[in-house]
Amino acid sequence: MEPVVELRGIVKVYPDGVRALDGVSLRLYPGRVHAVLGENGAGKTTLMRILYGEIKPTRGELLLDGRPARFRGTRDAIRRGIAMIYQHPRLVPTLTVWENVLLYFASAGVPEGEAEERLEEARRITGFDVPLDARVEDLPLGARQRAEILRSIAAGARVLILDEPTTNLTPQEFEGLARAIEGAKREGLAVAYITHRLPEVKAIADLVTVLRRGRVVASELDPRGASEEELARLMVGELPPRPSRSRGGPGDRVVLSIEGLRARGRMEVFVERLEVREGEVLGLAGVEGNGQEELVGAIVGYTPRLSGRVVVLGRVNPTPREYYRAGAAYIPGDRSKALVLHFSVAENLAFLRYAHEGPALLTFSRLARLYREVAGEYGIVAESPWAPAGSLSGGNQQKLLAASQLHMRPRFLLAVNPTRGLDVATTRYVRGLIARLADEGAGVMLVSSDLDEIIELSDRVAVISRGRITGILPAGKATPERIGLLMGGAA
Ligand SMILES: Nc1ncnc2c1ncn2[C@@H]1O[C@H](COP(=O)(O)OP(=O)(O)OP(=O)(O)O)[C@@H](O)[C@H]1O
Ligand SMILES: [Mg+2]
Repeated sequence: MEPVVELRGIVKVYPDGVRALDGVSLRLYPGRVHAVLGENGAGKTTLMRILYGEIKPTRGELLLDGRPARFRGTRDAIRRGIAMIYQHPRLVPTLTVWENVLLYFASAGVPEGEAEERLEEARRITGFDVPLDARVEDLPLGARQRAEILRSIAAGARVLILDEPTTNLTPQEFEGLARAIEGAKREGLAVAYITHRLPEVKAIADLVTVLRRGRVVASELDPRGASEEELARLMVGELPPRPSRSRGGPGDRVVLSIEGLRARGRMEVFVERLEVREGEVLGLAGVEGNGQEELVGAIVGYTPRLSGRVVVLGRVNPTPREYYRAGAAYIPGDRSKALVLHFSVAENLAFLRYAHEGPALLTFSRLARLYREVAGEYGIVAESPWAPAGSLSGGNQQKLLAASQLHMRPRFLLAVNPTRGLDVATTRYVRGLIARLADEGAGVMLVSSDLDEIIELSDRVAVISRGRITGILPAGKATPERIGLLMGGAA
């Protein structure tokens, strides 16, 4: 079968000297999903940005329908039928979906008169229904992503690049995405699919290529012939063991207590009673958007508490500053909001730790030492501490965020999707650190959309649905089925 596009011998050296790709070739075929796997920093996003015309390769060539092609920018690529969907949607938040569609059609050269008809066709192919007159900023991430896919297909994409599309999706939303991809395949689109989640590869990929440190280590494998363990080993070498909890049982001291808490952000949450003791991991499961964000905000102090009490390490209704000063840590769920990407890695570390440490941190030597410790211990790959945080691969940004908090050995940790975007080995490593933190006596509240993660680490699992806790299960009873029932709101 002839590939739609082919990348040949691609080398990419970034201006600061990082050799992200070292002779990589990749072919995308019509009607096939080609999964591109590799550890954090392997070069996956870089390769796709080259295909999308966003950055230029240092060497190597691109063939479109067998003929050499050169894109001067993404607009060129879009006009030739290449579409890329990033981890974080790139729609204009203050415009409506429809306005965003028209903007994209203008770049793609689609006449406005055809817009409605084409959208209708794309809706049929993907099964996606997105409210066209909604403002993008009012939509959850999943809906924004569906809007992006919809408009790409409507604009006549022949190649669809999905860079970790499920990082911000619920498991249910993955099903919808998988159906849309099936539809796209039937229309003959070529799909490049980047993910760290191996079950997804087994579910939808037709072929697999694995990158390691900028080189291809396995090309066009048949995923049905490889187990998840084998794929993982190809990506990262030996896997660290699965984390285990020693489960000494919780201590007496309560590190987080919530009583009669009412808080309002996008929605209202009410929590009658919730406690985390030292030595315990309390998981909070739920379909995203059921009040997790509000509850987390009310614990740290970002979301207004309307009534009731939150006590963190003895501080009653703490402000964020009091929260951190008490020795509590927080890994927020959305790294795009928690990091300032055009500031350096070291500066970001200063922001992330400033509230705990105060101005004493703000000397070059202290900051440099903290960076060396954190980067060394957690294997953060950056060109230097003064490189912009945006030059880190997505996974390395996530590592920076998690490491900055874990490294301080907090007595209470509130972690929201701490392993989102991490490769399989690093995921195990970070989960291991959370387990160890609890085994050593800290209390942890783990909010995660990944049920496996919750079940693996938690002593008890609380389930949130429509702003209310619908049940709390001890580890032995916290099965996916029971949690699922409570997620649906069954009390
Ligand atoms: N704009 C940039 N400037 C300098 N170096 C960069 C830039 N973007 C990426 N890099 C470097 O290139 C290498 C590959 O990064 P890339 O983002 O392609 O990895 P990835 O495979 O997508 O990883 P992840 O799974 O973490 O998303 C990394 O070492 C990264 O630090
Ligand atoms: Mg990436």
